[in-house]
This record gives sequence, C-alpha cells and structure tokens, in this order.
Amino acid sequence: MIEQAARIKVAIQKSGRLTDRSLELLERCGLKYTRGRDQLIGYGENMPVDVLLVRDDDIPGLVRDDVCDLGVVGMNVLEERRLQFQAEGVSEPFRVVRPLDYGRCHLAFGYPEDGPVRSLAELPGRRIATSYPRIVQDFLRRNAIAAQVVEFSGAVEIAPSLGRADVICDLVSTGATLAANRLREGETILDSQAVLIQTPREVAPAKTEWIARLLQRIDGVMQVRESKYVMMNAPVSALAEIARLLPGADAPTVIPLEGRGDKVAVHVVCRENVFWETLENLKKAGASSLLVLPVEKMLP
Ligand code: PRP
Ligand code: ZN
Repeated sequence: MIEQAARIKVAIQKSGRLTDRSLELLERCGLKYTRGRDQLIGYGENMPVDVLLVRDDDIPGLVRDDVCDLGVVGMNVLEERRLQFQAEGVSEPFRVVRPLDYGRCHLAFGYPEDGPVRSLAELPGRRIATSYPRIVQDFLRRNAIAAQVVEFSGAVEIAPSLGRADVICDLVSTGATLAANRLREGETILDSQAVLIQTPREVAPAKTEWIARLLQRIDGVMQVRESKYVMMNAPVSALAEIARLLPGADAPTVIPLEGRGDKVAVHVVCRENVFWETLENLKKAGASSLLVLPVEKMLP
C-alpha cells in the first residue's frame, strides 16, 4: 500500500470534449483504476496515481492550489484563468508541461448572418457575448477596439437572437453550433488543444519519480499514435529511393533474403502515418509484399 502523501492526483474534465481522450491517455500510460458509479475520483490500482473528475473551469485552480499535481485542460480554459490570476497578482499559477494534440478547437467571433457586423472593423461600439470575457477583453485591448463584453456562462450562441448582444465570441470545433444558430464564423483569436499542466512549485520527493515516469509514458503514447512499423521486400538497388519515400523513418533494418542475392527485406519504424500514396510509390520504386503494422508501445 502506497502512502497517501505520495499519491499523484491528476485532474481531468468530468464530462465534455476532453473526457474520453484524457481517460484513454491515462489508460494507455498503463493506469488501471477503480471508480464507483457517479464517483468523482478514480483510484489507481497499479500506480500511485488517482484521477479527479471535475469541471474543466476548476482544473487550473486545483493545480494552482496544489490540490492536484497535474491537470489536463484546454488552452481556452487555461488562458482565461491565467488572465484572471494575473489580474489578481499571481504570476505563475501553473506550468504547461505538454501539449497533448487532441481536443483541438478555436475561439472565434460569430456574426449573425443577416446582421450589420461582418468583420473586426465593425466591432467598435458593439456588444460581444462570450464565456471567455478576459481573453476577449485582452484581444480588444491589444487591437485597440472599443467594444462591450457581455459575459455568458453558456448558450452564448443564442445571445444575438435574444437581443442581448450583437455578435458572439465562442469556441468552435466543427462549426455546427454556429451554423445551427445562423452565425457566420469570423476571426479566430485563440487556437486551443488539450494541454497537461503541473504546479510550478516543488512537489514532494516521493512524487517526483512517478511524475517523471508518467511524463515519459505520455511522450511514448503520443509518439506511437502516428508511428507505424513498415515491412517490405525490395531490390538492393532501390534502397536509397525507398529511404527517401518513407516519412519520418529511422535507419531501416536490412535483412538478406535466403537465396536471393539481389533482394532484401526492409523493416523500418515511421514516426508519421503511412498513407496509401506512400505504399503505391514504394511499389513503383520496386518494393513488394508491403506490410504496415501499428506500434503498440515505444520507449526511446
Ligand atoms: C463549445 C461551444 C459550442 C460548441 C461548438 O461548448 O460553446 O457550443 O462547443 O462546437 P461545434 O463547433 O463543434 O459545434 P463545449 O462543448 O466545449 O462546452 P463548454 O463550453 O460548456 O465546456
Ligand atoms: Zn466548461
């Protein structure tokens, strides 16, 4: 039984766009946890790591207050909170340790399709509905635009039709919500993805080793996502061309084929996805018996 003080707490979004992928990431890092029905904490069984499922807006504060050692949150939420902490005089509430390459979306203006505002130039004097008031204020200040920010905690998209705002600034992923509310997407003010944050303060020595191991495993998981193990047979004369065609490949392993002096087997790890076009080009270059396999784990 590992002591309570040595257990690492990771905060993730309870239910929303980042939940499934965040849990999947931790599982792929080897974490097995038990979580009762409706329980907001998952207890790690095989690692001293517990998962707290909370509102995404609370994650930056939980890390700042050292209630949690790590947190997974969108850049959008993080930036809004960072501006708030900055206004309160807190200079480094958390540290971004890894971009996680999922949960991509952006914060953009949305203009009513039949309204008068069509671009930033027409914003002065208008009311902007958003649930990211600090990011929007900061953008307006930096661009010297005098407009009014109206804070909404949800359903920002309906603010113009309710007559509560002229335009909106909200998160866009597929764009379906904008379209459903007859809003045209305008300028982007922030690109977002999920990031891993950590407290900037020193953690208990008992925790540092497992935090480092977790980070290394996250790096491994992210690397194998796109990685492929590619095998083929090829004439020796085509090796240079094959190496040129393979995306992000390490040095290939070349194995002689029994009784075929002119042909070899080539095995190579590609750190990028391998598309059909690449396979077709490899075939044109002389390769045959092409096989592309997913990579399960990787530890450089
Ligand atoms: C965001 C945003 C929109 C929607 C846009 O909400 O407020 O409603 O996603 O996505 P779309 O472009 O794919 O239609 P989110 O689900 O992140 O909830 P939250 O803001 O309450 O956390
Ligand atoms: Zn939220």
